[in-house]
Amino acid sequence: MPDLDDLQDGKNYHIGVPMQSNAFFLKGSNSLDWGMKNRLARVFNPATGRTVMLAVDHGYFQGPTTGLERIDISIVPLVPYADALMITRGALRTSIPAEMSKPVVLRATGGQSILKELSNELVAVDIEDAVRLNASALAVQVYIGSAHEHQSIGNLVKVVDAGNRQGIPTLAVTGVGKELARDAKYLGLATRICAEMGAHFVKTYFCEKGFARVAAACPVPLVIAGGKKLPELEALQMAYVAIDQGAAGVDMGRNIFQCDAPIAMIQAVRAVVHDQEKPDKAYELYLSLKKDAPRTGPSAGVPNRSRS
Ligand code: 5RP
Repeated sequence: MPDLDDLQDGKNYHIGVPMQSNAFFLKGSNSLDWGMKNRLARVFNPATGRTVMLAVDHGYFQGPTTGLERIDISIVPLVPYADALMITRGALRTSIPAEMSKPVVLRATGGQSILKELSNELVAVDIEDAVRLNASALAVQVYIGSAHEHQSIGNLVKVVDAGNRQGIPTLAVTGVGKELARDAKYLGLATRICAEMGAHFVKTYFCEKGFARVAAACPVPLVIAGGKKLPELEALQMAYVAIDQGAAGVDMGRNIFQCDAPIAMIQAVRAVVHDQEKPDKAYELYLSLKKDAPRTGPSAGVPNRSRS
């Protein structure tokens, strides 16, 4: 029973001090509800407004791609350096310890493979399961201009609506068909459609020309994919220019986990994203960390295991 003996009138009303009502730090997110904002503030660092997401969901259509053959061995050591982990529910449940405290951006569409038309996806996670997994966001692939454009936008709408009911934001991922150019015109179209359909943040590719216009015309935060593996300095340069031109972070996979020294690389990417370190300085950081780092990338050998 609550103690009712010593009830006192409060004195600290701070009359005359207006209650603060600050704008939320992420663009386009000010009208969201508290839970949605709180989840976004787990994915994006409120101190910088940016994020380094580690994308390891490639297996959902590519199978055991290089660097992700054993997520329990190659990815778990990287998790402490990421702001968020983008992953499928299967990989999360089987290969990531539940003790990890990083926010999960849960891959929520799938249903095709590299052997077939990539845009033929469906919603692949029930919202109840996303809640059960404590997802901080849901990720949906959207294929503007591809065979199943309409269906993929429909998937986005369904996931946004389901997520809105639970306070879970949705990341729209712009999948670009092989036949389409990844230029500012296309990326501007795709990212804007995703935001207008209700995505709370959007993942897209960087383009050399006109990326600033793509970022400016997208009313929610944009993060860039790394794309295919590049030399480390080039990947850092791409991240630097993208941030400089308005991206709110990266959702990088192969350019981190396919490096010889992924732990060194993710720290160099963090320096670019969060500290706006110049690419050559970040590359020096990569090289110096690489000297001391254990090799966990694809060229590393199988770790020694004692028999139990
Ligand atoms: C598939 C995805 C991947 O998770 C992601 O784009 C891959 O990241 P990266 O290109 O950096 O390896 O969303 O479309």
